[in-house]
Amino acid sequence: MSGAGPSLRGGKKFLLAPSILSADPLAIGDSITRLKGEHDWIHVDVMDGRFVPNLSYGPQVVSRLRESLPDSFIDVHIMAEPAESFIDMFVQARPDLITLHAEAARHVHMALGRLRSLGVRPGIAINPGTPLCMIEPVLHLVDLVLVMSVNPGFGGQRFIPETLPKVRDLVRLRAVRELDYVIEMDGGIGADNAGMLVSSGCDVLVAGSAVFGCDDPAEAAARIRRAAEGGDAVRPCVK
Ligand code: DX5
Ligand code: ZN
Repeated sequence: MSGAGPSLRGGKKFLLAPSILSADPLAIGDSITRLKGEHDWIHVDVMDGRFVPNLSYGPQVVSRLRESLPDSFIDVHIMAEPAESFIDMFVQARPDLITLHAEAARHVHMALGRLRSLGVRPGIAINPGTPLCMIEPVLHLVDLVLVMSVNPGFGGQRFIPETLPKVRDLVRLRAVRELDYVIEMDGGIGADNAGMLVSSGCDVLVAGSAVFGCDDPAEAAARIRRAAEGGDAVRPCVK
């Protein structure tokens, strides 16, 4: 592996993926415009009211994002079960990457292989209460591992620090097994902990309320970026 880190990171120290879950649902496109390019990826949370106790977007939203932002990296996080039932409908929407939850897939090895065969980068996610050993047999199949740092379903929750050792173990496993996945963390992330998370090995930081919950999403994203690059705690925006 090169010194620049996993190839999906493109030589950057980390990537910022604002979650549109916290954007104004009547103005998602406008909310993305207001980021003024201070983001790397667009993170789309798909919820089914069954695997998680909330409902969100269907594939039409991803299709429209793809049409209106042809060059943006669209990162779809599916919190729905059985995960296999959602693959085809979201692949048709042409995102760059689809992450499935290990807890929601009956045949996770097959599901990840199917994503790859359909031309979408596969990712695997685990909840805060799920041990890393559950996904160790499929790490070679994925481009991204998502470590949930809140229980999935809602934005604006508090970061669960007990999830951090999984990031450090993923860094070690990646080196030992010579793999190339990026490590994404999702939930409770903002300028106050971004520096510590990047120092701990996170490659992709998802932030919803810390970006779109602020009056100026571009400034909020820039503040998280500064914190992540400097490795320092920076005061989050106050609303
Ligand atoms: C939670 C979602 C997250 C959520 C993060 O189930 O997967 O992506 O939008 O929101 P914040 O950053 O507000 O914790
Ligand atoms: Zn998410």
